[in-house]
Amino acid sequence: MGNRWDVKYKNLFQGLYISSFNKESFSDYKMKPPAEPFKIKVIEPVRVPSEQERKEAIRKAGFNTFLLLSDDVYIDLLTDSGTAAMSDNQWAGMMLGDEAYAGSKNFYNLEKSVQDVLGYKYLVPTHQGRGAEHLMYSNLVKPGQLVPRNMYFTTSKVHVELPGGKMVDVIIDEAHDPENTNPFKGNVDFNKLQKYIDDYGADKIAFVNVEMNVNMAGGQPVSMENLRKLREFCNNYKLKIIFDATRSSENAYFIREREKGYENTPIVDILNEMMSYSDGCIYSSKKDCLVNIGGFLATHDKEIFEATRSMVVVYEGLHTYGGMAGRDMEAVARGLREGAQYEYLKYRVNQVRYLGYLLMEAGVPIVKPTGGHAVFLNALKFLPHLARDQWPAQTLSAAIYEDSAVRTMERGAISKGRDSETGENIFPKLELVRLTIPRRVYTNTHMEYTANSVINLYEKREIIPGLKMVYEPKYLRFFQAKFEQLPL
Ligand code: F0G
Repeated sequence: MGNRWDVKYKNLFQGLYISSFNKESFSDYKMKPPAEPFKIKVIEPVRVPSEQERKEAIRKAGFNTFLLLSDDVYIDLLTDSGTAAMSDNQWAGMMLGDEAYAGSKNFYNLEKSVQDVLGYKYLVPTHQGRGAEHLMYSNLVKPGQLVPRNMYFTTSKVHVELPGGKMVDVIIDEAHDPENTNPFKGNVDFNKLQKYIDDYGADKIAFVNVEMNVNMAGGQPVSMENLRKLREFCNNYKLKIIFDATRSSENAYFIREREKGYENTPIVDILNEMMSYSDGCIYSSKKDCLVNIGGFLATHDKEIFEATRSMVVVYEGLHTYGGMAGRDMEAVARGLREGAQYEYLKYRVNQVRYLGYLLMEAGVPIVKPTGGHAVFLNALKFLPHLARDQWPAQTLSAAIYEDSAVRTMERGAISKGRDSETGENIFPKLELVRLTIPRRVYTNTHMEYTANSVINLYEKREIIPGLKMVYEPKYLRFFQAKFEQLPL
């Protein structure tokens, strides 16, 4: 058909990957808000606190949005983790919880869902994603070993470091550039991976870790081609591949939207193919499974299964519940299937994209293209008058709350923490504020309210003062650190 969008974006990507264009993927398309594929049966009232209340609340929280009371928040975009609205079918499943200590039928329903949707044979349930990270990574990482990954995630990095390993970055360079519109910014760079193997030897690599829809890069997908090639590459060195499949359904949607040959492939088939290139995965169910709590690890590998199943009873609970109630396992079993439906994913990804579109239209600097679960503001461009150790992203996140009672999260130097060897602050290239959209919770009008607040701040950005860190906890400091406002 060749309309002007097709021509323009074919040029932009020089035919790379993209076979069919979803016009709405791109920044200058006049996008309309996506229609919801559900109707609302239950509501939860929320209110906007007064200006004075907001001012006091953020100071009391030490300018850390994690320390705000939920009651003081109007729109909560802190995280997409455990914040989804469940469906009537999931709630019905909650009433069918089989709360037996051993052999709950809900465990077997969950096992069947994981086998059908992801294609893994073996399942070990855990209370949430980091429980699975703990079992998987402490089992596979030996002291002194490296874990190459397509960008770190906070809890994953810690669970690699605790058994004595070190996480190293092998994502493509484009991922570190907020302006770069590569459609698969989550891809692994084989040259970087090769260099670690050449410099340290394959036996120093514990496994290769690949995250789907890379959270810290802005919710950016990995292509199927990249995963397929990675499997071949790792086979040459007998290296295992472990996925962080937490946002794999949203990644599968992007593959269908952007990668040649998958235009009409059912999401479940895409997921099965993706997982076939791994040895196993960890999964925080609190995202794409549309539930409030839960996690698991899954694998094709009997050895990994037996090792982690023997550990789960020490740290989480019996291997047929792993820290979840029977009713929670049922909600995950149903949510994993629901969250892999094409119509739902199309609405989901486009709602996030709508918020990104509104901000881009107003010239606000965001990470491009808009990712799957969140819009990320580029704090270095938003607040260029602040030094890195005045924590631009932390500052911006606090300022957004004070302006509109919208809660967001810092994803930059505070999240990255300190170098485990030197103890120095690390200042990553990406200094971002994450506006994370809970699944099926907020309307498109909520997106517009949020965009208006951010645009309002952008217009008066030069009068926003920086912060000084006055309290720093030892682990995962972003959760509990406290700050004071500096004079402008
Ligand atoms: N892996 C990824 C990619 C994650 O985003 C998360 C959690 C985890 C693992 C850990 O899972 O929270 O269930 O223990 N991410 C949340 C977030 C906290 O807000 O991004 P968990």
